[in-house]
Amino acid sequence: MMASSTPYAAAGVLAVMVAALCLHGAAAQLVEDYYDDTCPDAYDIVKQTLIEAHQSDTRIYASLLRLHFHDCFVQGCDGSILLDNMTGFQTEKEAVPNMGSARGFPVVDAVKAALEDACPGVVSCADILALAAEISVELSGGPKWGVLLGRLDGLTSSIAGANNLPAPFENLTVLERKFSDVGLKDLVDLVALSGYSARTSLIPRRTGSTTSAAQICLTRP
Ligand code: HEM
Ligand SMILES: *[C@@H]1O[C@H](CO)[C@@H](O)[C@H](O)[C@H]1NC(C)=O
Ligand SMILES: *[C@@H]1O[C@H](CO)[C@@H](O)[C@H](O)[C@H]1NC(C)=O
Repeated sequence: MMASSTPYAAAGVLAVMVAALCLHGAAAQLVEDYYDDTCPDAYDIVKQTLIEAHQSDTRIYASLLRLHFHDCFVQGCDGSILLDNMTGFQTEKEAVPNMGSARGFPVVDAVKAALEDACPGVVSCADILALAAEISVELSGGPKWGVLLGRLDGLTSSIAGANNLPAPFENLTVLERKFSDVGLKDLVDLVALSGYSARTSLIPRRTGSTTSAAQICLTRP
């Protein structure tokens, strides 16, 4: 159960998680070379924008990784966490797990603008979040993995789904179900990803009175 004793192991599991979440329920075939013809510099453009953002915001890599996780857990990796409350329906941004803590949106906008300059209307916002997460792990000293691409952007936002994201006070039974619901049925994935969260978030909120799976992960060395 110590699968996440290095960030590398955890990030490897993240790749599996992302693949599992993104293929879950959708018929789309995602491929690594999706933009090779239509936007060959996509990867480099995202990477350059992230490096620039990191110069004034050293937390940005962690924040972008979390955005992808919070996007994928709610109706798949469809970029819906980016949608704003403009037409009067409440959005994922306003859900408790995101409000005030989800951050990095201006950097996502900067990436999108740079990509629009290079290849207008080609790279989906969902793929931007996926690329940003992988590049963030890589730039933080973790491994590289081939991000599968070709996601389409969702048109709906689910505040209910976002409010159902795994919470730090939830017990193992509930966390197991929530991970299993998105195709992550192996408990090793849960432990590795929870541990990864604990490490990257500098161990916030350690003072709850109930023992939860997240706290067990937080207390691991
Ligand atoms: C049991 C599952 C999880 C729980 C309960 C959890 C909970 C939390 C909480 C409470 C925070 C602090 C938010 C704040 O700033 O107030 C956080 C931050 C964070 N989480 Fe998670 N998390 C989980 C899984 C994950 C996963 C799977 C990932 C990535 C693959 C992840 C990545 C992060 C990152 C990178 C941060 C720091 C974000 C920043 O500094 O902007 N977490 N998480
Ligand atoms: C979002 O829309 C709802 C429904 O109209 C409204 O009640 C709420 O105040 C809006 N939230 C924000 C942050 O604008
Ligand atoms: C876990 O939490 C759920 C929801 O709060 C609760 O119904 C369940 O009894 C708890 N299970 C254990 C083993 O504590």
